[in-house]
Amino acid sequence: MSTTSKLVLVTGATAGIGRMTAIHLAKQGHRVIATGRKPAELAKVKLEAAGLSLETVLLDVTSQASIAAAVAEVDRISKGRGLDVLVNNAGFGILGPTSEITDADMRRQYETNVFGLMNVTRAFLPKMRERRAGRIINVSSVGGRITLPYFGVYNSTKYAVESLSDALRYELRPFGIDVALIEPGVIRTNFEATAVSGLEQFASTPYALAMRKYENMSKTADRFASNPIVIARAIARAVNAGRPSARYVAPRSTNMIIWMSALLPTRMWDWMMRKVGFLTPKALDLSGSPVTHDRQPIDVSVVKRTSAEAHAPAN
Ligand SMILES: NC(=O)c1ccc[n+]([C@@H]2O[C@H](COP(=O)([O-])OP(=O)(O)OC[C@H]3O[C@@H](n4cnc5c(N)ncnc54)[C@H](OP(=O)(O)O)[C@@H]3O)[C@@H](O)[C@H]2O)c1
Repeated sequence: MSTTSKLVLVTGATAGIGRMTAIHLAKQGHRVIATGRKPAELAKVKLEAAGLSLETVLLDVTSQASIAAAVAEVDRISKGRGLDVLVNNAGFGILGPTSEITDADMRRQYETNVFGLMNVTRAFLPKMRERRAGRIINVSSVGGRITLPYFGVYNSTKYAVESLSDALRYELRPFGIDVALIEPGVIRTNFEATAVSGLEQFASTPYALAMRKYENMSKTADRFASNPIVIARAIARAVNAGRPSARYVAPRSTNMIIWMSALLPTRMWDWMMRKVGFLTPKALDLSGSPVTHDRQPIDVSVVKRTSAEAHAPAN
């Protein structure tokens, strides 16, 4: 149970970490606004939180109209006071060889994870600034600190979230607004299923075989994944702290990989990442000889002639 009840809005609360967080915070006595883009899922969250102070509001973070409508709803709920805490959680990951991911998919990834997060933040910030109080909690990832093979595009969105959050933390502090980052490790949610759902589009790329091996390996990795309650608790710590930390890594064991990436020489780290991603000539089945573009012997007479012509006096 928290010391003070706060009005907290959670984006992407229809599944996984966001859903668990919304219910966990409501159980702690906070007044929660669980948001998402699927009305049927929001209704289930409301049912699960029966008896708790939890309301639901439709919010697609990629739509300005949807954001404006959600701000109006929050104004109504809070009687014009605005939010105490905004939890920017909505996000997803695209998995695939970085060079082969289409421009459209890359933009789609940034629209939600980066521009969506910033647009929602901009929309709820004015009331916090007016009151000189508030808190923004951004769900990043351990992938905002290290880059994994095939997660280059997703990881780059989380690196962006890390940098934007650092700058917001400096810039909003004078207004009494705190900014905290949550950096989850591997968590058992729909995230992995969404990430692997588009893998067939890489079947005709040079990475097809390695991607298949990686997909099989990622299925077995599920048993190392943590329950989303671990992240809900980390978010609750950031909500309830007098002054939140800049970063919450959860579960704690995830720190190990961050330290390793900082301590290992780059060549050793790269070798490990290539092993993880099956990025060896053998695993990629690069047994055929590479295409060579043999140099053609230079026709010296042409060069001589051209040079002589160039130096001939003009008529
Ligand atoms: N699971 C992990 O291992 C892990 C690790 C590190 C970081 N994270 C981060 O944790 C956050 C939550 O992911 P999760 O693991 O809980 O995955 P999840 O189970 O797939 O849940 C993602 C949530 O985000 C919502 N969402 C996606 N696009 C949205 C949009 N445009 N507008 C509003 N909501 C949207 C989804 O709603 P729909 O059902 O409508 O799509 C869903 O409610 C993400 O930011 C993710 O990057 C996850």
